[in-house]
Amino acid sequence: MSVLVRPAAEADLAAVRAIYNHYVAHSTCTFQLEPDTEAERLAWFRRRGPTHPVTVAEFDGAVVGWAALSAWNSRCAYARTAEASVYVHPDHHRRGVGRTLLADLIVRGRAAGLHTIVGGTCTEHTASLALQAAFGFRQIGVLREVGHKFGRWLDVAYTQLILDPAT
Ligand SMILES: CC(C)(COP(=O)(O)OP(=O)(O)OC[C@H]1O[C@@H](n2cnc3c(N)ncnc32)[C@H](O)[C@@H]1OP(=O)(O)O)[C@@H](O)C(=O)NCCC(=O)NCCS
Repeated sequence: MSVLVRPAAEADLAAVRAIYNHYVAHSTCTFQLEPDTEAERLAWFRRRGPTHPVTVAEFDGAVVGWAALSAWNSRCAYARTAEASVYVHPDHHRRGVGRTLLADLIVRGRAAGLHTIVGGTCTEHTASLALQAAFGFRQIGVLREVGHKFGRWLDVAYTQLILDPAT
C-alpha cells in the first residue's frame, strides 16, 4: 500500500473530522464524548503554530488517516513538548498507515525543534501502545480511572519519546 503523507489543508478537515468522530462514537481511544462540529475542527486547525503540524495520509486520492502534534501544556517552559495523535480510518487498519504517519510526525517534530513527544493512551488500546513502542516511546506511568466513557472507568498510559537528548 503506497501512502502519501502531506500537511493537511482546510479542504481535508471534513475527512479528518469524519475519521475522528467515528472514534468519538465507538471507541475509548479518545475521551471526547460528543462529536466535533465543523466549526470546532476549523478553529482547532487555525489556531496551530509551526511546531504543531497536522498531516494527512492519502491513499488512492482519499484521506485514510491523519496525525497531529499538539501543545502538551500551555505554560511556556513546556514549549518544546508536544502530544502526538494518530487516527487511521477503520477500513485501513494494519496496512502501515499509522506507522507512516507517526514516522513522518516524528521527523516534523524534530525539524520544528521539539525536544520530546508525549502520548496519553487509554490502556485498552494495545494497537496504539504497540505502534508507539515500535518507535521507541517508553511508558512512563499509568493514571488509573481518570476517564469515564461507555459506563466504565478508564486508565491512561503516558508514554514519551525524547527526540534529541543533547539539546
Ligand atoms: C493505532 C492506529 C493508529 C494504528 O494504525 P494502523 O495503520 O492500523 O497501524 P500500522 O498498520 O501502521 O501498524 C504499525 C504497528 O502498530 C502496531 N499495531 C497496529 N495495530 C495493531 C493491533 N491491532 N494490535 C497490535 N499491534 C498493532 C504494530 O506494532 C504494527 O507493526 P506491525 O504491523 O509490524 O506489527 C490505529 O489502530 C487507529 O487509528 N486506532 C484508533 C485511534 C487511536 O487509538 N489512535 C491513537 C491515539 S492518538
